[in-house]
Amino acid sequence: MQLDATIPPVDQSLLMERYYRYHSKIYDATRWSFLFGRRQIIQILADHYTPRHILEVGCGTGKNLIQLGETFPQAKIIGLDISESMLGVARKNLVSMTERISLLCTSYDQTLKLAQQFDLILFSYSLTMMNPGWEQALEQANRDLTPGGHIAVVDFHNSKFPAFKKWMGVNHVRMDGHIHAKLTSLYEPRIVETPNAYGALWQYLLFVGQKK
Ligand SMILES: C[S@@+](CC[C@H](N)C(=O)[O-])C[C@H]1O[C@@H](n2cnc3c(N)ncnc32)[C@H](O)[C@@H]1O
Repeated sequence: MQLDATIPPVDQSLLMERYYRYHSKIYDATRWSFLFGRRQIIQILADHYTPRHILEVGCGTGKNLIQLGETFPQAKIIGLDISESMLGVARKNLVSMTERISLLCTSYDQTLKLAQQFDLILFSYSLTMMNPGWEQALEQANRDLTPGGHIAVVDFHNSKFPAFKKWMGVNHVRMDGHIHAKLTSLYEPRIVETPNAYGALWQYLLFVGQKK
């Protein structure tokens, strides 16, 4: 008898919702201790650009959206996320900013047709969780940016400790230094940094690039 060896596609939306159903409740209280560079990337952007239309892909509980809203008071902002639980927390966090910031519950992939383009798209610790789909997401962002628009990425970069990478994998994070090459193939690098975290347990990536 021939066994069908086809591996069913990962249902990213189910996977994320299962993970974040619980984690959304403790997310804001815990993630400051290891998701480094989030405030910094927005500060870097503020030093160089004045975006009017901003999209954050994988906005989670909306902390970056609040900082983006305060930093760019003229901008219209959309936060998009695949997890309804994370957006539930974001809705509460954003209650005083709903005029300029809207939320969208959907997967960011090639099937998505947004009604507008953006001059800034931010990915903050979302690309390393899009497995599969991170390459397609970067290509989609390229289409969703206005000519000359900018992409900003803050995320895990790499670690020289296999056990640590394995542990991150258990938490749906791929940490392989894999994002940087694809970014530079699609975007002209403007800022690239890979600072150490906790000594050198891992490096995280700060990237700002311009659509080629
Ligand atoms: C680690 S959290 C980052 C949240 C926020 N950006 C931050 O910096 O705190 C990753 C987020 O990406 C979202 N995500 C994962 N895959 C996604 C996809 N394909 N489309 C949209 N969002 C996705 C998850 O639901 C989660 O909220």
